[in-house]
Amino acid sequence: MAKLWGGRFQKATDKKVDDFNSSIRFDSRMYKQDITGSIAHAKMLGKQNIIPEDDSALIVKTLKEILDDIENGNVGFEIDAEDIHMNIEKILTERIGDAGKRLHTARSRNDQVALDLRMYLKDEVDEITSMLKNLAETLILLAKNNLDTIMPGYTHLQKAQPVTAAHHFMAYVEMIKRDIGRLADAKKRMNSLPLGSGALATSTYPIDRDFVATELGFDGPCLNSLDGVSDRDFVIELSAALSIIMVHLSRFSEELILWNTDEFSFVEMDDGFSTGSSIMPQKKNPDVAELIRGKAGRVFGNLMGILTVMKGIPLAYNKDMQEDKEGIFDSIDTIKLCLPVFTDMIATMRINKDNMRKGAGGGFTNATDAADYLVKKGVPFRNAHEIIGKLVFYSIEHSKSLEQLELAEFKQFSDVFENDVYEAISFESCVSYRSVIGGPAKETVMLAIEKNEEFLKTV
Ligand code: ARG
Repeated sequence: MAKLWGGRFQKATDKKVDDFNSSIRFDSRMYKQDITGSIAHAKMLGKQNIIPEDDSALIVKTLKEILDDIENGNVGFEIDAEDIHMNIEKILTERIGDAGKRLHTARSRNDQVALDLRMYLKDEVDEITSMLKNLAETLILLAKNNLDTIMPGYTHLQKAQPVTAAHHFMAYVEMIKRDIGRLADAKKRMNSLPLGSGALATSTYPIDRDFVATELGFDGPCLNSLDGVSDRDFVIELSAALSIIMVHLSRFSEELILWNTDEFSFVEMDDGFSTGSSIMPQKKNPDVAELIRGKAGRVFGNLMGILTVMKGIPLAYNKDMQEDKEGIFDSIDTIKLCLPVFTDMIATMRINKDNMRKGAGGGFTNATDAADYLVKKGVPFRNAHEIIGKLVFYSIEHSKSLEQLELAEFKQFSDVFENDVYEAISFESCVSYRSVIGGPAKETVMLAIEKNEEFLKTV
């Protein structure tokens, strides 16, 4: 097949090079953005009298028809036409001849691909943001149903202090809120229009870049054409933001896998979100959570990939940059696969409130509160820490928890202890006394819920 750029060549491209060079396998997914960008470009060319108005109108009309045909599966792409940009230009030219051949005036594939990718990623950011919003709303619902569900909080995966399941779930809402913020931030920097940068040095035609920017919803044209065609920071930033989302999903998955074990039994995954074993009849495995934890790996890999691709590329466009797409597309696909299934998995899991409460009972999670009890009665904190440390050791030796000790036993360690110690170290008190902003007490968690709900309304 004759190449759109074939004039200078005496020989056909080697078949292996055609396959090697072509990106249509993976960039065809940007067909809509490519056509939308071309429509804006064609309108601008007509408006500026760079091409005849009639040609401009015909190009716009035909591009819209091509878009419909692609969406209805009536158009196929060819490897020989290399990429989505040249495939669409070729189809256009086949349909309207010379008018189609005028579309590429004052434009290069270098600014075209930079435009398409930004537009594509902006759309995907919106979709991922709404999935994150769903997840946050699901977590808030879980939190509302578990404001009084006491569970052990951990440090070093050792029981530390009692919290509530609501407080734990809301920790992830904070992470998701930052994720949403990072995506919005990345989108802001994607929103500068590269089209008009040309191959590298703009063009000699009187193009109207502001018009194209407005048509396509960009804040304005980028101010340096070399940067316009060679910037892929937005791919790196989005890869990084997606990686952080996967960090969050992966950490949560790890917790749910633990909580779903016989040892913890804090939650039970719904049958619909568990899988069995081909040999062990009793098994019900949390494969969904494991797979999400595993898929974090490829998303991080994609971030490393694009960083490495970009780090040594001189200005401006180099073909290396064609490698910018598969990784970010894979990260997007992966996240879009993970978020809905993760959201439904947690929405359907059974929360074993009794076992959570029992879990908080072990491991002396009220020891800090016992020390604080002494402090409130005037004992310096360091001394109180020492006294309770000894008390804990004594309790371990006698196979008791702190609240099971007799007052006389407490008094062996300090005569400051009185009957009110039992109230002070009850798990309900441990939680409700922590009512400072950010704490697990019911009213502070409710305040956090309210603030997050307000935030989500703005998303
Ligand atoms: N398929 C190419 C890419 O993804 C489009 C830009 C090609 N530009 C060029 N000068 N060969 O990067």
